Amino acid sequence: MKNIRLDKYLADMGVGTRTEVKGIIKKGAVVVSDKIIKDPGYKVSIEDSIICNGQNVVYESFEYLMLNKPAGYITATEDKKEKTIMSLIKSKRNDLFPVGRLDKDTEGLLLITNDGDMAHRLLSPKKHIAKKYYVELEKVIENDYIKSFEAGIVLKDGTKTRPGKLEVIDNNTVYLTIFEGKFHQVKRMFEALDNKVKYLKRVSMGTLILDKTLELGKFRPLTEDELEKLRRHIDGN
Ligand code: URA
Repeated sequence: MKNIRLDKYLADMGVGTRTEVKGIIKKGAVVVSDKIIKDPGYKVSIEDSIICNGQNVVYESFEYLMLNKPAGYITATEDKKEKTIMSLIKSKRNDLFPVGRLDKDTEGLLLITNDGDMAHRLLSPKKHIAKKYYVELEKVIENDYIKSFEAGIVLKDGTKTRPGKLEVIDNNTVYLTIFEGKFHQVKRMFEALDNKVKYLKRVSMGTLILDKTLELGKFRPLTEDELEKLRRHIDGN
């Protein structure tokens, strides 16, 4: 961590909003490496010990959360009209953001973090990170679908997608794995085959698999094992 302002440090660690934290600092409740500091702009580093209202506040550089996104929420950090997925994340940390985007009516796995480098690498078109979706369709699946997805689909606007992998569950239900992230890609791929997605849920991204015990709208931190595997996957890709 580079030197950062004391108020940002405390706000990032969830002590309060930036305004609340400024008040706390000005009251003299914050001790930085044995000195009371009343200036919110005072620069601190990872070597400093920081105590706020008698509690040690340790800086955690990165946070990684798995959210089971429900329908009805947009994938954004803020919006004036719509409910955002960030309203489901009960962290006072203010530097978290979603990695990639799910449509308002799509459910399932979303990674939320403040690790910009990891997010960039997961979303990079060069990395071809696999994203697997559970899909319910309006019409029956045709025999040639698997081959069509293997060949790559020409969308209605003429764009050709990379090959995808289709696993048929029953007449109207499939798992589809894609290796890129075009706008509304899954829906548009099925539209190109004159079918329509009725229900869409992301079940995995790279090595990260949606925890089946995580209820809709709930989140939890990634385990060490999940994080380690995801890092190795990105590095190897
Ligand atoms: N593809 C879609 O069409 N929608 C999503 O939310 C994700 C992938």
